[in-house]
Amino acid sequence: MHLEKATLLYNKPLGKNYFRLACNAAKIANDAVPGQFVSVKINNTHEPFLRRPFGIHKVDGCRIEILYEAVGEGTRLLSKNKQGSFLDILGPLGNGYDYRYALIRHKTPVLVAGGMGVAPLFFLAEKLVRSLGRKVRHSPRVLLGAKSKNQILCEKEFKKIGCSVTIATDNGSAGFKGKVTDLLKQTLSTLDCPLSTALYACGPRPMLAEVSRISRKHGIFTQVSLEEHMACGIGACLGCVVKTKDGYKRVCKEGPVFNSEEIVWEKHTKGGR
Ligand SMILES: Cc1cc2nc3c(=O)[nH]c(=O)nc-3n(C[C@H](O)[C@H](O)[C@H](O)COP(=O)(O)OP(=O)(O)OC[C@H]3O[C@@H](n4cnc5c(N)ncnc54)[C@H](O)[C@@H]3O)c2cc1C
Ligand code: FES
Repeated sequence: MHLEKATLLYNKPLGKNYFRLACNAAKIANDAVPGQFVSVKINNTHEPFLRRPFGIHKVDGCRIEILYEAVGEGTRLLSKNKQGSFLDILGPLGNGYDYRYALIRHKTPVLVAGGMGVAPLFFLAEKLVRSLGRKVRHSPRVLLGAKSKNQILCEKEFKKIGCSVTIATDNGSAGFKGKVTDLLKQTLSTLDCPLSTALYACGPRPMLAEVSRISRKHGIFTQVSLEEHMACGIGACLGCVVKTKDGYKRVCKEGPVFNSEEIVWEKHTKGGR
């Protein structure tokens, strides 16, 4: 874990409330694995007091990128930060996806993203593609879900690195009409052997619970990245615990990525988008 004073390289709007931010953070970039996150101090004042967590979207040499949606005070202030300013960033934090599982077991990785859940999955896709080289048979399949067409992010980027991409929108404005979990069911039903896949998912909690239910039915290895409200982000305050079959675990420390079968998917009242 490193604390870096990172130079902001860009903080570009991508449509209405979405932003892509890149900064120079060489130590974090060097150590990061897909699924890990950074904890960002939004500005130099004490408002907001707490850092905000964001998945690492991309690593390119000494730079890291995050993709975020302005949903509240912190993210709206973050979107005002200008090129050349400094950001205080802590990371990489938490445990990432076990991408080696898909590689070692020759499984086709299926990445399932709900809304902003796409953010950490791009870093994972890049890592898988780089590690797979030209083994096209196993190149990642990406299922992108959102409410409508203009909320689908990164489609071109995934295609550019060789992933096959399928889209689901709730209102049918692009791709499959329905939930990304329905698209997942359909995708698995077209395969001779669903067990030849490994699922990696990120998105709202009800979506992840459904991904887990579907994958359990087929016995597929599945990892999910959970999002809980965080205070310290480093395992000290217990503010982010989730119930697992092995007791409560901290999303910021033991997660955010968990094997889906570990999680007790009961109805949930806090956190998660
Ligand atoms: C491990 C992790 C990785 C994340 N990665 C990303 C990412 O890559 N891109 C991105 O846009 N967002 C990501 N988030 C969510 C992001 O941290 C929150 O959207 C952000 O902290 C909101 O801050 P705010 O001050 O703008 O909103 P607030 O004013 O604090 O809250 C506004 C709304 O956002 C919800 N919210 C706040 N914090 C969280 C949270 N931690 N999880 C879910 N909902 C929250 C609140 O319930 C409220 O509805 C991640 C969260 C976690 C825990
Ligand atoms: S946020 Fe403090 S323990 Fe996870």
